[in-house]
Amino acid sequence: MPASSFFSLTLLLCFSTAALAGDPFVFYDWTVSYMTASPLGVKQRVIGIDGQFPGPILNVTTNWNVVVNVKNDLDEPLLITWDGIQHRKNSWQDGVSGTNCPIPAGWNWTYQFQVKDQIGSFFYFPSLSFHRAAGGYGGIIINNREVIPLPFGLPDGDITIFISDWYTKSHKELREDVAKGSDLGVPDGILINGLGPYRFDEAVVSDGIAYQTINVEPGKTYRLRVHNVGISTTLNFRIQNHNLLLVETEGSYTVQQNFTNLDIHVGQSYSFLVTMDQNASSDYYIVASSRFVNSSAWIRATGVAILHYSNSLGPASGPLPDLPNEYDAYFSMNQARSIRL
Ligand SMILES: *[C@@H]1O[C@H](CO)[C@@H](O)[C@H](O)[C@H]1NC(C)=O
Ligand SMILES: *[C@@H]1O[C@H](CO)[C@@H](O)[C@H](O)[C@H]1NC(C)=O
Ligand SMILES: *[C@@H]1O[C@H](CO)[C@@H](O)[C@H](O)[C@H]1NC(C)=O
Ligand SMILES: *[C@@H]1O[C@H](CO)[C@@H](O)[C@H](O)[C@H]1NC(C)=O
Ligand SMILES: *[C@@H]1O[C@H](CO)[C@@H](O)[C@H](O)[C@H]1NC(C)=O
Repeated sequence: MPASSFFSLTLLLCFSTAALAGDPFVFYDWTVSYMTASPLGVKQRVIGIDGQFPGPILNVTTNWNVVVNVKNDLDEPLLITWDGIQHRKNSWQDGVSGTNCPIPAGWNWTYQFQVKDQIGSFFYFPSLSFHRAAGGYGGIIINNREVIPLPFGLPDGDITIFISDWYTKSHKELREDVAKGSDLGVPDGILINGLGPYRFDEAVVSDGIAYQTINVEPGKTYRLRVHNVGISTTLNFRIQNHNLLLVETEGSYTVQQNFTNLDIHVGQSYSFLVTMDQNASSDYYIVASSRFVNSSAWIRATGVAILHYSNSLGPASGPLPDLPNEYDAYFSMNQARSIRL
């Protein structure tokens, strides 16, 4: 049998199609390939989707059928996991290794699924071979059908934020380290939307690193969808002087509760409403940092982006907003327990 038909047969056996008629279809065509980026000032090979790192956002509505034709231009097999959705086995091809087969290098495959009875914030990512350490992830927004109202006012904007630990080693080197049983060690940095930190401290962050700026209008309220897409580091997320009103996590609306900061574990997604209720005398820091940053080895594990009011009078300055007491081992657990669906 020629190689081509062998692969087609394999793919046919690995995937089953769940086409559901009656509901709208949306089509995406993606090419997954390496690209060069320097998030921490060091040139490295990252995984992009259609030349974007992070990848594009799947913005769909409950019950839509989603068809994503993925071309794998990497040099290794690729498997995309449609996260969160995987908890519902009924209509999703969930992309979990073992139930789906990877797309061979140079081939394409069309994922098809229905976002049945789901709402909220999720993300997709490549789940094999440490690819996620190099990128290949992006957001999934599942909107309510119009007949179902949101349990909060319609926000003035919708902003997706990916936070992640990051290494300047390639995913192949990291994978070898892990295979040899070595510890990954302290990350070289924390990325926010694929970008390195704002230079909040000249001793910690070198010059010339591109950082994320989130542009907002004073007085408006935005929905921030924050995803920890990293590989192993829990990150504390906070915005200087701004409350985070938690409203949703991974497809469930929560009892609304204000946080000044929240620990976000790897794989978790949260939606916060943030009102731009501060004066515009300066920009404000957006921080995602390891809870161990006070030990000198971990200081570099601090991601910093900038919240910029359109009428802001100057750059953010001064110390970053404090972490809660890092020695309180119960903090994270109590925080998680305080979230009610
Ligand atoms: C998602 O799509 C809806 C229309 O279906 C649009 O109103 C909304 O602004 C989009 N959201 C994002 C974040 O692109
Ligand atoms: C691969 O892509 C081509 C062109 O876009 C498409 O016609 C074909 O159905 C795709 N094959 C699979 C297995 O998804
Ligand atoms: C959350 O904080 C905002 C101010 O940032 C306030 O307006 C709002 O009432 C608070 N909401 C709750 C549920 O505590
Ligand atoms: C603006 O807010 C900051 C932080 O709350 C405060 O330190 C500063 O004094 C305020 N400036 C003005 C002009 O109100
Ligand atoms: C780090 O340690 C210093 C000095 O012990 C303390 O003042 C500061 O609040 C700590 N910072 C954090 C983020 O815990």
